Amino acid sequence: MANQITRGRFITLEGGEGAGKSTQAARLESRLRARGFESVLTREPGGSPLAEQIRSAILSGAIAPLGPAAEAVMFFAARIDHLRHTIRPALEAGKWVICDRFSDSTRAYQGALGNLDPRFLRELERVTVGPTRPDLTIVVDVPAELGLARARARSAFVDRFEAEGLAFHEALRSAFLDIAGEEPRRCAVVDGTGDADAVSDSIWGIVCGRLIDSAESPPEQKAAP
Ligand code: TYD
Repeated sequence: MANQITRGRFITLEGGEGAGKSTQAARLESRLRARGFESVLTREPGGSPLAEQIRSAILSGAIAPLGPAAEAVMFFAARIDHLRHTIRPALEAGKWVICDRFSDSTRAYQGALGNLDPRFLRELERVTVGPTRPDLTIVVDVPAELGLARARARSAFVDRFEAEGLAFHEALRSAFLDIAGEEPRRCAVVDGTGDADAVSDSIWGIVCGRLIDSAESPPEQKAAP
Protein backbone atom coordinates (compact mmCIF):
# COMPACT_ATOMS: atom_id res chain seq x y z
CA MET A 1 0.00 0.00 0.00
CA ALA A 2 1.32 3.43 -0.93
CA ASN A 3 2.33 5.69 1.96
CA GLN A 4 -0.35 8.24 2.67
CA ILE A 5 1.23 11.62 3.30
CA THR A 6 -0.70 13.84 5.68
CA ARG A 7 -0.93 17.43 4.45
CA GLY A 8 1.41 19.71 6.37
CA ARG A 9 0.12 22.60 8.43
CA PHE A 10 0.07 26.15 7.14
CA ILE A 11 0.95 28.90 9.64
CA THR A 12 1.08 32.60 8.82
CA LEU A 13 2.54 35.46 10.87
CA GLU A 14 0.97 38.86 10.50
CA GLY A 15 1.30 42.33 11.98
CA GLY A 16 2.43 45.87 11.28
CA GLU A 17 5.91 47.16 10.54
CA GLY A 18 8.62 46.22 13.05
CA ALA A 19 6.41 43.75 14.91
CA GLY A 20 9.19 41.16 14.78
CA LYS A 21 7.36 38.68 12.53
CA SER A 22 10.40 37.72 10.49
CA THR A 23 12.50 36.88 13.54
CA GLN A 24 9.60 34.93 15.01
CA ALA A 25 8.86 33.08 11.78
CA ALA A 26 12.49 31.89 11.66
CA ARG A 27 12.41 30.83 15.32
CA LEU A 28 9.17 28.97 14.90
CA GLU A 29 10.55 27.13 11.90
CA SER A 30 13.63 25.99 13.81
CA ARG A 31 11.55 24.86 16.77
CA LEU A 32 9.36 22.79 14.46
CA ARG A 33 12.44 21.26 12.85
CA ALA A 34 13.86 20.44 16.26
CA ARG A 35 10.62 18.57 17.00
CA GLY A 36 11.06 16.57 13.79
CA PHE A 37 8.56 18.39 11.58
CA GLU A 38 9.82 19.11 8.10
CA SER A 39 9.09 22.73 7.40
CA VAL A 40 9.53 25.53 4.92
CA LEU A 41 10.06 29.17 5.84
CA THR A 42 8.75 31.63 3.29
CA ARG A 43 7.46 35.18 3.00
CA GLU A 44 5.15 37.54 1.17
CA PRO A 45 5.27 39.40 -1.04
CA GLY A 46 7.68 36.94 -2.63
CA GLY A 47 8.53 33.36 -1.78
CA SER A 48 8.98 32.17 -5.39
CA PRO A 49 11.03 33.61 -8.27
CA LEU A 50 8.22 35.43 -10.11
CA ALA A 51 6.62 36.61 -6.88
CA GLU A 52 9.99 38.09 -5.81
CA GLN A 53 10.06 40.12 -9.04
CA ILE A 54 6.55 41.39 -8.35
CA ARG A 55 7.66 42.21 -4.78
CA SER A 56 10.36 44.54 -6.08
CA ALA A 57 7.87 46.33 -8.31
CA ILE A 58 5.37 46.87 -5.48
CA LEU A 59 7.83 47.87 -2.75
CA SER A 60 9.58 50.34 -5.06
CA GLY A 61 6.31 52.29 -5.05
CA ALA A 62 5.91 51.95 -8.83
CA ILE A 63 2.39 50.53 -8.51
CA ALA A 64 1.20 52.97 -5.81
CA PRO A 65 -0.03 55.66 -8.27
CA LEU A 66 -2.51 53.08 -9.62
CA GLY A 67 -4.19 52.88 -6.19
CA PRO A 68 -4.90 50.16 -3.61
CA ALA A 69 -7.05 48.01 -5.91
CA ALA A 70 -4.15 47.68 -8.37
CA GLU A 71 -1.74 46.97 -5.53
CA ALA A 72 -4.09 44.29 -4.17
CA VAL A 73 -4.25 42.65 -7.59
CA MET A 74 -0.45 42.66 -7.77
CA PHE A 75 -0.13 41.10 -4.30
CA PHE A 76 -2.59 38.40 -5.34
CA ALA A 77 -0.73 37.81 -8.61
CA ALA A 78 2.44 37.25 -6.59
CA ARG A 79 0.47 35.02 -4.22
CA ILE A 80 -0.75 32.80 -7.07
CA ASP A 81 2.86 32.08 -8.04
CA HIS A 82 3.92 31.61 -4.42
CA LEU A 83 1.09 29.16 -3.75
CA ARG A 84 1.74 27.24 -6.95
CA HIS A 85 5.51 26.90 -6.65
CA THR A 86 6.22 26.97 -2.92
CA ILE A 87 3.28 26.64 -0.55
CA ARG A 88 1.07 23.92 -2.08
CA PRO A 89 3.92 21.59 -3.09
CA ALA A 90 5.33 21.79 0.44
CA LEU A 91 1.96 21.15 2.14
CA GLU A 92 1.23 18.26 -0.21
CA ALA A 93 4.62 16.75 0.65
CA GLY A 94 3.59 16.84 4.30
CA LYS A 95 5.80 19.80 5.23
CA TRP A 96 4.73 22.60 7.49
CA VAL A 97 4.76 26.03 5.87
CA ILE A 98 5.61 29.10 7.95
CA CYS A 99 4.80 32.22 5.99
CA ASP A 100 5.81 35.74 6.98
CA ARG A 101 2.64 37.65 5.89
CA PHE A 102 -0.16 36.35 3.68
CA SER A 103 -3.71 37.41 2.68
CA ASP A 104 -4.45 39.17 5.97
CA SER A 105 -1.79 41.72 5.02
CA THR A 106 -3.76 42.50 1.86
CA ARG A 107 -6.95 42.74 3.90
CA ALA A 108 -5.27 45.15 6.34
CA TYR A 109 -2.99 47.28 4.13
CA GLN A 110 -4.97 47.46 0.89
CA GLY A 111 -8.42 46.55 2.23
CA ALA A 112 -8.86 48.42 5.52
CA LEU A 113 -6.30 51.17 4.87
CA GLY A 114 -7.06 51.51 1.18
CA ASN A 115 -10.82 51.49 1.74
CA LEU A 116 -11.41 48.64 -0.66
CA ASP A 117 -14.74 46.87 -0.73
CA PRO A 118 -14.24 43.70 1.36
CA ARG A 119 -16.29 41.76 -1.22
CA PHE A 120 -13.66 42.57 -3.86
CA LEU A 121 -10.87 41.10 -1.70
CA ARG A 122 -12.95 38.10 -0.63
CA GLU A 123 -13.56 37.28 -4.27
CA LEU A 124 -9.87 37.68 -5.16
CA GLU A 125 -9.01 35.44 -2.22
CA ARG A 126 -11.56 32.84 -3.25
CA VAL A 127 -10.26 32.51 -6.81
CA THR A 128 -6.54 32.70 -5.97
CA VAL A 129 -6.04 31.16 -2.52
CA GLY A 130 -9.05 28.85 -2.75
CA PRO A 131 -8.93 26.18 -0.08
CA THR A 132 -5.27 26.80 0.84
CA ARG A 133 -6.16 28.92 3.87
CA PRO A 134 -3.86 29.10 6.88
CA ASP A 135 -4.54 26.62 9.68
CA LEU A 136 -3.23 29.18 12.15
CA THR A 137 -2.46 32.89 11.92
CA ILE A 138 -0.36 34.55 14.60
CA VAL A 139 -0.89 38.31 14.78
CA VAL A 140 2.19 39.82 16.42
CA ASP A 141 0.92 42.98 18.04
CA VAL A 142 3.02 46.01 18.99
CA PRO A 143 2.06 49.68 19.40
CA ALA A 144 2.53 51.49 16.09
CA GLU A 145 5.15 53.88 17.49
CA LEU A 146 7.35 51.06 18.74
CA GLY A 147 6.98 49.08 15.50
CA LEU A 148 7.90 52.05 13.34
CA ALA A 149 10.90 52.91 15.53
CA ARG A 150 12.12 49.30 15.26
CA ALA A 151 11.57 49.23 11.48
CA ARG A 152 13.47 52.48 10.99
CA ALA A 153 16.31 51.41 13.28
CA ARG A 154 16.90 48.17 11.38
CA SER A 155 17.41 49.77 7.98
CA ALA A 156 18.06 53.17 6.44
CA PHE A 157 15.97 52.12 3.44
CA VAL A 158 12.34 53.05 3.94
CA ASP A 159 9.93 51.12 1.70
CA ARG A 160 6.59 52.27 0.32
CA PHE A 161 4.62 51.34 3.47
CA GLU A 162 7.19 52.27 6.13
CA ALA A 163 7.10 55.78 4.66
CA GLU A 164 3.46 56.22 5.77
CA GLY A 165 2.77 58.25 8.95
CA LEU A 166 1.88 57.15 12.48
CA ALA A 167 -1.90 57.40 11.94
CA PHE A 168 -1.62 54.89 9.08
CA HIS A 169 0.28 52.45 11.30
CA GLU A 170 -2.17 52.84 14.17
CA ALA A 171 -5.05 52.08 11.81
CA LEU A 172 -3.08 49.12 10.52
CA ARG A 173 -2.69 47.73 14.01
CA SER A 174 -6.46 48.01 14.56
CA ALA A 175 -7.11 46.33 11.21
CA PHE A 176 -5.04 43.26 12.21
CA LEU A 177 -6.71 43.12 15.63
CA ASP A 178 -10.12 43.31 13.94
CA ILE A 179 -9.25 40.40 11.64
CA ALA A 180 -8.13 38.34 14.65
CA GLY A 181 -11.35 39.26 16.46
CA GLU A 182 -13.48 38.19 13.49
CA GLU A 183 -11.76 34.81 13.08
CA PRO A 184 -10.72 33.67 16.55
CA ARG A 185 -10.55 29.99 15.58
CA ARG A 186 -7.87 30.67 12.97
CA CYS A 187 -6.10 33.65 14.58
CA ALA A 188 -4.24 34.27 17.82
CA VAL A 189 -2.83 37.61 18.96
CA VAL A 190 0.59 37.63 20.62
CA ASP A 191 2.06 40.59 22.47
CA GLY A 192 5.20 41.47 20.50
CA THR A 193 6.59 44.09 22.89
CA GLY A 194 8.64 41.64 24.99
CA ASP A 195 12.05 40.29 24.07
CA ALA A 196 12.36 37.84 21.20
CA ASP A 197 12.66 34.81 23.52
CA ALA A 198 9.46 35.66 25.39
CA VAL A 199 7.52 36.26 22.17
CA SER A 200 8.87 33.05 20.69
CA ASP A 201 7.75 31.09 23.77
CA SER A 202 4.23 32.54 23.52
CA ILE A 203 3.99 31.60 19.85
CA TRP A 204 5.30 28.11 20.53
CA GLY A 205 2.69 27.63 23.26
CA ILE A 206 -0.07 28.51 20.81
CA VAL A 207 1.31 26.29 18.03
CA CYS A 208 1.59 23.35 20.42
CA GLY A 209 -1.85 23.93 21.89
CA ARG A 210 -3.68 24.41 18.63
CA LEU A 211 -1.79 22.25 16.14
CA ILE A 212 0.93 19.97 17.44
CA ASP A 213 -0.88 18.23 20.24
CA SER A 214 -3.69 17.43 17.83
CA ALA A 215 -1.43 16.69 14.83
CA GLU A 216 -0.10 13.31 13.87
CA SER A 217 3.32 12.68 15.34
CA PRO A 218 6.15 13.11 12.86
CA PRO A 219 7.65 9.82 11.60
CA GLU A 220 10.58 9.63 14.03
CA GLN A 221 8.23 10.11 16.98
CA LYS A 222 5.86 7.47 15.67
CA ALA A 223 8.68 4.95 15.70
CA ALA A 224 9.50 5.72 19.34
CA PRO A 225 8.07 3.30 21.91
P1 TYD B 1 8.71 43.59 4.07
O1 TYD B 1 10.06 44.20 3.84
O2 TYD B 1 8.57 42.14 3.86
O3 TYD B 1 8.19 44.13 5.44
P2 TYD B 1 7.83 43.45 6.79
O4 TYD B 1 9.14 43.12 7.45
O5 TYD B 1 7.06 44.53 7.48
O6 TYD B 1 6.98 42.23 6.49
O7 TYD B 1 7.71 44.39 3.14
C1 TYD B 1 6.45 43.97 2.87
C2 TYD B 1 5.54 45.19 2.84
O8 TYD B 1 4.42 44.92 1.99
C3 TYD B 1 5.00 45.54 4.20
O9 TYD B 1 5.02 46.94 4.36
C4 TYD B 1 3.57 45.06 4.13
C5 TYD B 1 3.22 45.17 2.68
N1 TYD B 1 2.18 44.22 2.21
C6 TYD B 1 0.96 44.69 1.76
O10 TYD B 1 0.73 45.90 1.75
N2 TYD B 1 0.02 43.81 1.29
C7 TYD B 1 0.26 42.47 1.25
O11 TYD B 1 -0.62 41.69 0.83
C8 TYD B 1 1.53 41.98 1.73
C9 TYD B 1 1.83 40.51 1.71
C10 TYD B 1 2.46 42.89 2.20
